[in-house]
Amino acid sequence: METAAPPPRRAWIEAFGCQTNLLDGEFAAGDLRRRGWVPAPSAEEADLVVFNTCSVRQHAEDKVWSRLGALAERKRRDPSLLVAVMGCMAQREGEEILRRAPVVDVVVGTRRYGDLARLVEEVEGTGRRVSALRDPSGGFEEPVRDVTVREQVHRGWVSVMRGCSHRCSYCVVPSVRGRQFDRDEASILEEVRRLAGDGATEIFLLGQNINTWGRTLPGRPTLPALLRRVHEVPGVRRIRFLTSNPMDIEIPLLDAMGELPRVMPYLHFPAQHGSDAVLRRMYRGYDRARYLELVGEARARVPGIELATDLIVGFPGETEEEFAALLSLVREVRWTMAFVFKYSVRPGTAAAALPDDVPEPVKSSRHAAVMAAQSEVEAALLAARVGTEVEVLVDGPSAKRPERMAGRTAHHQLAVLPEGAGGPGEYLRGRVVRATARVLHVDPAAAAAPGRP
Ligand code: SAH
Ligand code: F3S
Repeated sequence: METAAPPPRRAWIEAFGCQTNLLDGEFAAGDLRRRGWVPAPSAEEADLVVFNTCSVRQHAEDKVWSRLGALAERKRRDPSLLVAVMGCMAQREGEEILRRAPVVDVVVGTRRYGDLARLVEEVEGTGRRVSALRDPSGGFEEPVRDVTVREQVHRGWVSVMRGCSHRCSYCVVPSVRGRQFDRDEASILEEVRRLAGDGATEIFLLGQNINTWGRTLPGRPTLPALLRRVHEVPGVRRIRFLTSNPMDIEIPLLDAMGELPRVMPYLHFPAQHGSDAVLRRMYRGYDRARYLELVGEARARVPGIELATDLIVGFPGETEEEFAALLSLVREVRWTMAFVFKYSVRPGTAAAALPDDVPEPVKSSRHAAVMAAQSEVEAALLAARVGTEVEVLVDGPSAKRPERMAGRTAHHQLAVLPEGAGGPGEYLRGRVVRATARVLHVDPAAAAAPGRP
């Protein structure tokens, strides 16, 4: 007698962190698929729930603990539910997660994401909960990834380095992701080619401190050289990279950006603060004047470049005067985008030894003040684009109004299209007809005819 095959088991992966974290999640998803798992439509309907975690701020970790609490309820009703935790919090807390959250079956650290799928199956077999952690500063080879399992077909993320060898005083990344370890050029290019072959036209190179890529490799290749190689890969139309720290940016990189048309004129260039005293306490290795000088270099060498930043308010000891220096930098630099964070103490970092003495309400009001200034700057920058022609890479339905498609311009500004126009992965040229709070409204019908300037 024939019996029907059991339905495939369903996995739900939820990310809490940065792009590197999303990329590791894509790897785990590909590996699970290879082993017969299919994506679950929601966490509730999943046989396996994976939390892909972040440790950069306490808040990100709190969210995961509370989600684990909620899952514990479900596991009481359904003991076959499997739960795994991967990423930076898994690395930081390690075994403690198994102790504190009996709902968790598998914990894998930042350099063990390649083992997640296998360990899940091991737990199924043995019933024994496991953790897999490794000193994040050891050597590391990127496991070969199934590039056909990705969030967006047209966008391919590629990790070019792991870890970071700086020690910014607030930052937990070096301890959870280890010292910098670069991936070699051949392996990067091989993955880029496979991504392009699978339909990725935008390549996003990822590294915590990407400007220093190559320093740990024989012959010390450099990021500008790598960009030139990626630029030659057939099918690649847009190249972006993250994150450019001001302490390590070099002029040849800016020149390469100016010269290579497929490297997009957009730089994530985190200033963190505008006060020299605070920058010193953060161990950032540059001061305000140096940052502004680099902004000038970038704008001179990459015409029309847009810059984005991360900023931290409420760092230990931040006085009114120091905060004013941060606020004034927002108006002076005019970033197209600013990610603004309230300082959060991270155990084991140098800043954890300083008193977290800016009261929460003050952090909140400073955060709001920076956001308000930034919104004004952003609105003006977007308004200045009205009437210009842009190229939009369509990502998918707009979050706010799903009947319209949204995407990004070369400058990484958010653009929405009229209803009915465009589909995910398409490149559309059009004229900016209007700018609202954070968005350019682009009309493809208003583009100049092809062939005309
Ligand atoms: N070089 C990394 C930085 C990762 S952390 C990169 O790829 O961007 C991302 C941002 O989080 C940092 O730029 C910083 O602005 C913010 N951040 C890091 N540690 C923080 C902390 N302890 N409290 C608040 N914000 C923090
Ligand atoms: Fe963190 Fe500074 Fe490195 S922000 S990731 S220690 S450059």
